[in-house]
Amino acid sequence: MHLSCRHGAIFLFRVLYRRISAVVVSLLGRWRGGMESDWVPDGLDIDRPSVARVYDYLLGGSHNFAADREWARRAIEAIPDLPVQAAANRAFMHRAVRFLVGAGVTQFLDLGSGIPTLGNVHEIAYAVDPQARVVYVDIDDVAVLQSRHLLAGDPNATAVRGDMRRPEEILANPEVAGLLDLSRPVAVLAIAVLHAISDADDPAGIVAAFRDAVTPGSYLAMAHGVNTRAEFVDSVDMSKGTSTPITLRSPDEVRRLFDGFDLVDPGLVWAPLWRPESTHEVPDRPEQSANLAGVGRKP
Ligand SMILES: C[S@@+](CC[C@H](N)C(=O)[O-])C[C@H]1O[C@@H](n2cnc3c(N)ncnc32)[C@H](O)[C@@H]1O
Repeated sequence: MHLSCRHGAIFLFRVLYRRISAVVVSLLGRWRGGMESDWVPDGLDIDRPSVARVYDYLLGGSHNFAADREWARRAIEAIPDLPVQAAANRAFMHRAVRFLVGAGVTQFLDLGSGIPTLGNVHEIAYAVDPQARVVYVDIDDVAVLQSRHLLAGDPNATAVRGDMRRPEEILANPEVAGLLDLSRPVAVLAIAVLHAISDADDPAGIVAAFRDAVTPGSYLAMAHGVNTRAEFVDSVDMSKGTSTPITLRSPDEVRRLFDGFDLVDPGLVWAPLWRPESTHEVPDRPEQSANLAGVGRKP
């Protein structure tokens, strides 16, 4: 009797929880829609989904449009793990930045930084070293606009619009050159962005250009989507309609992107397995994250 009452209560709680979640999600959607007009940059093509804004939606952010949300919903239907993957990459980035500041690196060049949400590099770095310097680079106008808005008045961090396929342009950008001292170690972050670079655009050559520009003792932190499972590969087809289609790579191909860097422990692993800070962070199926992650040091 006692047990069946308990089961009944749990069942009721679950039903109520689902109903309340559905109402909250729907209200959030309406609120997001209402907010859009406040921050839309002039001339932005809001009918074409952007990876930065889809990612923002997957992480629970509010800087996305109907086309992004629709694309994300269809993608989640095909790949239910997509929000888990985005969160795992973001959590890896947090741990990698904490590790890097702990290793004495206080300068960060975040390539494909995305829309500021859920803890950004400068917030994590400042918590350890308030003098850290951070440059965010993204190809997406909304990502850059929002980042610049967030960083207004901060002399130690900035965001610039740049295409990582043109490393020289990024490094020569006066804001980048003014903030980062390349004679001291820099951590180059490429979290969930190199799979937005096609083979034709030579991702290894891009990484090498940044590697050659930074001094020994600098680092590369990378998370990269892999093609080891059929449903991961589905995301490639879906991404064709976005502004930055993706190219998933094999674990060996991802490892080769670290050429010229020494991988620190534990090497190249599923994103949640890279130096988890608590046992809660390790999911039962780390491969759900679909991204391999690692941090390498330029010797
Ligand atoms: C999946 S998001 C990752 C965001 C962030 N790094 C994170 O892990 O939370 C990929 C980002 O890379 C940006 N991106 C794609 N191609 C790029 C390129 N060629 N140059 C710079 N940024 C790019 C997209 O606009 C998007 O914001």
